[in-house]
Amino acid sequence: MFIDSHAHIQLSQFNSDRDAVLKRAHEAALSAILVIGFDVKTSRGAVELAEKHENIYATVGMHPHDAKDFTPDTLQTLRALATHPKVLALGEMGLDYHRNLSPRPLQKAAFEKQLDMAEELDMPIIIHNRDAYMDILPILEARRGKMRGVLHCFTGDVEVMHRSLDIQFHIGIGGIVTYPNAKDVQAVAREVPAERLLIETDCPWLAPQFRRGKRNEPAYVRAVAEKIAELRGTSIETIGEVTTRNFQQLFASEGPLY
Ligand code: NI
Repeated sequence: MFIDSHAHIQLSQFNSDRDAVLKRAHEAALSAILVIGFDVKTSRGAVELAEKHENIYATVGMHPHDAKDFTPDTLQTLRALATHPKVLALGEMGLDYHRNLSPRPLQKAAFEKQLDMAEELDMPIIIHNRDAYMDILPILEARRGKMRGVLHCFTGDVEVMHRSLDIQFHIGIGGIVTYPNAKDVQAVAREVPAERLLIETDCPWLAPQFRRGKRNEPAYVRAVAEKIAELRGTSIETIGEVTTRNFQQLFASEGPLY
């Protein structure tokens, strides 16, 4: 069994064939999909999808791209959505210094507000990072012991991995690991302790090598698991088992999901 720990199947890219996508996920032995919100609209969309399907869970949060639109109202809406029983985590949240679609001070402010909320609600978090580890890690390190979650679509090197592990975070590995020149991500996939590893697609983006440039979907998380298994000299079944257990422990500490 496999779990896609980071998917955006609430988006319109899936409107014409969402049921077929879910069917293929089921046929690929996925036992759950975590649908990630990144603003108010997509957070609502994630929750609505989770209400319709037993094996779908949701997160709610505000992406750093939209930090310029983050208001006290946003926070209140996210907080209300977060109380839904199928919402397992807050995020994605974080910092994005690659595209800089919001000014950095506003990105940091929106990130800190959401971290406060995670601490108050005692919920795990989904971190988005792009070229910003130098600021994200100190922010998380300052809250050491009060935060848990995953650094999703991890693209740092082994040194950044060790700092992330040191503050008890999980490492989310996605389709990039299957790209021939992704040497840092492959080194991380090889060296990360088994109990901290999660797999994801980040679909509709970042399709694995065999579908690179096309729309991604949850079923392709198997290609991620397969590549990690190859790198670690183990079986795809073992990667499935381990990452499913990790997901359960991180996001559903209060009892089994299914
Ligand atoms: Ni994402």
